[in-house]
Amino acid sequence: MCSLHVTAILLAAGKGERLGGSVPKQFYELAGKQLFRHSLDVLEASDAVDSIVLVLPAPSSEWQGRPLSKVRAAVTGGSTRQSSVAHGVAALPEAARVVLVHDAARPLLTGALIEALLAGLSPECAGTIPGIPLEDAIKKASKEGFVEADLDRGQVWRVQTPQVFFRGPLEDSLRQAVQAGRDSADCSHMLTQAGYRIRIVQGDPTNLKVTRPADLRLAALIFEARAQETEEDG
Ligand code: CTP
Ligand code: MG
Repeated sequence: MCSLHVTAILLAAGKGERLGGSVPKQFYELAGKQLFRHSLDVLEASDAVDSIVLVLPAPSSEWQGRPLSKVRAAVTGGSTRQSSVAHGVAALPEAARVVLVHDAARPLLTGALIEALLAGLSPECAGTIPGIPLEDAIKKASKEGFVEADLDRGQVWRVQTPQVFFRGPLEDSLRQAVQAGRDSADCSHMLTQAGYRIRIVQGDPTNLKVTRPADLRLAALIFEARAQETEEDG
């Protein structure tokens, strides 16, 4: 399926308000480089990715790195995640047929996860997303915190990025969302709202999103553990 041109949109235009600090979280140093650089380097190194569009806050003064061969454009993001996705989509190279959308806030991306998502694409679906099965009991509760029902955890998933879509459905669902005045922080939600089928593939539980300060410490530990594993294997 993926002899098709794959373009990755790397979203790094958020404010990182829940993490706080003097710079948005994607520019924090973690395990030797800025958070967004981790995903950027994985995308750059992946044989499955043909080109990259970077979405950055304005002005994109943080983007002063060495030239990367796959980066086709660095564009300014919008006020919401969905509008940042739209800015990235508007800058896609003409050849792009498959689009991988990834949050720079998930620095633990791996090439293996990218390949699993692309391998899951088929004409039966408009895209693939990584899902993590839940191991705890799942309850539905009222706003006041009282249990209302037990949910079947076999039917629910935690969903991450990267998310992979065929270009046409992604563009169409963005148009529909804008027309209907909907704004979604999850691209796959935008596609399912527009009536497209999305397939869940097994995600990577260590591909965590840095949202709050404790996540930064946890991400650093996972990087350490991965480095140790590589050493042991080598
Ligand atoms: N993002 C973006 N443009 C926005 C909002 C978010 O490109 N207007 C990106 C972020 O940079 C991040 C990803 O979308 O990589 C996921 O968003 P989130 O974790 O919510 O990051 P922030 O919006 O930056 O954080 P917060 O919500 O705490 O302000
Ligand atoms: Mg946010």
